[in-house]
Amino acid sequence: METTAISKIGPKAGATATVQGWLYNKRSSGKIQFLIVRDGTGYLQCVVPRADVPPEVWGAAESAAQESSLRVTGTVREDKRAPGGYEMTATVVEILGDAKDYPISPKEHGVDFLMNLRHLWMRSSQQHAVLRVRSEMEQAIADFFYEREFVRIDSPILTGSSVEGTSTLFETDYFGDKAYLSQSGQLYLEPAAASFGKVYCFGPTFRAEKSKTRRHLTEFWMVEPEVAFLDFEGLCELAEDFIVYLVGRALERCGEHLKRLERDPKKLEIVTKPFPRITYRDGIKTLQGKGFPVNFGDDLGADEETALGAEFEKPLIVSRFPTAIKSFYMQPDPQDPEVVLGLDMLAPEGYGEIIGGSQRIHDLALLEKRLDEHKLPREAYEWYLDVRRYGTFPHAGFGMGLERVVTWICGIHHLREAIPYPRTLKRIYP
Ligand code: 4AD
Ligand code: MG
Repeated sequence: METTAISKIGPKAGATATVQGWLYNKRSSGKIQFLIVRDGTGYLQCVVPRADVPPEVWGAAESAAQESSLRVTGTVREDKRAPGGYEMTATVVEILGDAKDYPISPKEHGVDFLMNLRHLWMRSSQQHAVLRVRSEMEQAIADFFYEREFVRIDSPILTGSSVEGTSTLFETDYFGDKAYLSQSGQLYLEPAAASFGKVYCFGPTFRAEKSKTRRHLTEFWMVEPEVAFLDFEGLCELAEDFIVYLVGRALERCGEHLKRLERDPKKLEIVTKPFPRITYRDGIKTLQGKGFPVNFGDDLGADEETALGAEFEKPLIVSRFPTAIKSFYMQPDPQDPEVVLGLDMLAPEGYGEIIGGSQRIHDLALLEKRLDEHKLPREAYEWYLDVRRYGTFPHAGFGMGLERVVTWICGIHHLREAIPYPRTLKRIYP
């Protein structure tokens, strides 16, 4: 049987078509039933007039429960008021799979209840919209780097060394040895930059985050470019270009989904170059002016990030953090050796850090010293040090958390809705 995707129903106007999907919603006037069918590509209102259909068709429409799977055949009509611009007058309604007692009803449910039903909740229109935006962003990430001739290098997930501190490592047994789930692909990209010049990786990363916040997942997807001979200024521009590209793509191709999420597009349309920039030192002064009890050397927490980001409508680049609070591999600023050439990009509207990056130390002796200072075992990093032993070169890169960006672009509250199956401190089900 020939069926038509709802998103492609337009050309069938005036003709007969068959759609297959799930019953999203239903109302009835007694004489007419209105079935909203969704098939993943769109929503279609199917009108069933009692007077014009055989009793069994009326009966099927009447007994279909929310989320039953169905096949509907009928005449397609253009209707400006209908959700997708078309409506169908049904002649045949077949229930394929019943969904009696579907646990999620249109009424309000608590988040925990919904998260336990994540496998079903993802059918709801808002969750569907968020995951559509996520998928578009994943494609845009690949396109951005492909258009700029980066080579994609897949970094391993099982690793023997930490990148972002040992406190958030997930440890696992590796045939009697210890292995860790990757916190970041960066260390594996730096050697690849010496082979290809411009590389990136994009995959799942893991952090045993013991804090329960709306910004932290234990499994999240990170995209990380790494570029040979790129200086810190060039890195900031790459990060800016990247975010402008992603936001532009969301506006261009996700309008319908953003509308369903009631996201004000104006908040995204203003995301153009250049982004405001401040140094960490100036950020501390700003925060002190707002009454925060912070001093040079303090890490910026969620509240501080929110307060700084709130000063601007565009993403904010904060640069040059104290060496002591940043990762071991960051290059000191030659003008101000107490700070490193690192950047955090903070999203506006209180969404906090979306990008973290830096120029990397390319001097062997300094990197060895830093490993010692951070009490990291030298043996696990010998291969990484080889990048400095054989033809060392200045290089820089950053990591962007996909869920952080999707959360911000969609204007939703919590990262857990920006990933199909969230993993958090308290959740590994479903
Ligand atoms: O700032 P981070 O820790 O930087 C790195 O991992 C570097 N090695 C990246 C690089 O330079 N190649 O993490 C990068 C980004 C953060 O800005 C944030 O967007 C995201 O990863 N992120 C998280 N997202 C969700 N849940 C968490 N627990 C996250 N931790 C970091
Ligand atoms: Mg960071």
